[in-house]
Amino acid sequence: MRAGIIGVAVLLVFIGLPLAAAADPLSSCKSCHDLSADKRKVMGPPLFGLYGAKPINAAIPVKKWDDASLDAWLANPKDVLPGNTMMFKVADKAKRDEVIAAMKALK
Ligand code: HEC
Repeated sequence: MRAGIIGVAVLLVFIGLPLAAAADPLSSCKSCHDLSADKRKVMGPPLFGLYGAKPINAAIPVKKWDDASLDAWLANPKDVLPGNTMMFKVADKAKRDEVIAAMKALK
C-alpha cells in the first residue's frame, strides 16, 4: 500500500514536471540541473552558460552546444550518447525550441 502511494507520487512528479513547464521552459530541468551562476552539480551538470560551450561530459560527441546539438540531445539523449544517465526527453519540437531559447539566455 505504502509502496503504491510512493509509486503514484513518483509518477505524478515525472508526469507533472513537464506539464508545469508551461511558464518557464527550464522549470522541468531544475529537479536535476542547477540553472544558477553557482554552477553546482546536482544529478546532472550545471546548465548556466552551457549554450555555446563544449559539453561538460567529454564523452558527448558534440563540439559546442548549439541549436542543432541541443535539439538532438533533448529529443533523445541516448541517440547522442548511448548509455548516458539523463533519463529525460522533450518530445515536442516546439517545446525544445523554447528550452533552447531559454538556455541561450542563461548566461
Ligand atoms: C531526471 C533528471 C534530469 C532532467 C529532468 C533533465 N536532465 Fe539534463 N542531464 C541529466 C543527467 C544525469 C545528465 C548527465 C548525463 C551524462 O553525461 O551521462 C544530464 C545532462 C544534460 C546535458 C549535457 C551536459 C553536458 O554538457 O555534459 C544537457 C545539455 C542537459 N542535460 C540539458 C537538460 C535540459 C535543458 C533539461 C530540461 C529540459 C534537462 N536536461 C532535464 C539529468 C536530467
